[in-house]
Amino acid sequence: MSIAAARGGPAVHARGVSKAFGSGDARVIALQGADLELPCGEVAMLVGPSGCGKTTLISIIAGLLARDQGQLEVLGTDPNALRGDERTLWRLRTVGFVFQQFNLIPQLSVAENVAIPLVLAGVRRAQALERAADMMARVGLSGRERSAPLKLSGGQQQRVAIARALVNEPRMLVCDEPTSALDGATGQSVMELIVETCRHPDRAVIIVTHDERIFRFGDRIAHMDDGRVDRLTDRHGTALGLGAPERTALGFAE
Ligand SMILES: Nc1ncnc2c1ncn2[C@@H]1O[C@H](COP(=O)(O)OP(=O)(O)O)[C@@H](O)[C@H]1O
Ligand SMILES: [Mg+2]
Repeated sequence: MSIAAARGGPAVHARGVSKAFGSGDARVIALQGADLELPCGEVAMLVGPSGCGKTTLISIIAGLLARDQGQLEVLGTDPNALRGDERTLWRLRTVGFVFQQFNLIPQLSVAENVAIPLVLAGVRRAQALERAADMMARVGLSGRERSAPLKLSGGQQQRVAIARALVNEPRMLVCDEPTSALDGATGQSVMELIVETCRHPDRAVIIVTHDERIFRFGDRIAHMDDGRVDRLTDRHGTALGLGAPERTALGFAE
């Protein structure tokens, strides 16, 4: 399916996604038949106890990890169906990923960190740094371009990580516990930034969190347990359907 055909359609269609790590006695089943349907234009929260498979599921959705079994389409593309370098390009263009511990590179300046996805996508350095500076202004970090990342506060470092994830204008933003290292007020302002920047009919946001204080930013909450998505609710806990009409329209119904 082309990207144009996917516009306004489902952001994520996952059915029966399974993943195990290791083998023999060391084998760990991280996902066992996870189903998830998310539309574009929404902020989805993925919640559940530690070890239930949240990071594994978003890593598979983001094309960072291959699934063992199941169906997956992310904005109309199955990342597993792409060859290695095609998948890297697809990921660079389509998905922004915010890691739990920021993963900033201490030897590079803040602007250089933000510019990394552009440089990897082949944008010339001067232009990449200019676009990085524009993105930094949008997240409230103007003037810190030359700073060392570790000189910034936790909230500022998380803003740098978000700017880096958004600098390519990806249609999907995936965040792994983006507020876990932040105090309550900073966490709220980071969430406001994510929602303001990304709520768009063609875009989607998936946020893994334990932090009940940010559930209110989610349009849809997917509750996981033991390698599966148990149920979908709205932010008040009211059960939502599993998106069957969208599947039917796209021919996914069984
Ligand atoms: N690279 C890996 N190697 C081995 N086991 C892993 C790996 N990544 C995750 N796991 C295991 O898979 C399960 C799910 O992990 P994860 O997706 O990180 O859970 P969560 O993000 O919900 O805490 C856990 O039991 C975890 O220990
Ligand atoms: Mg995790």
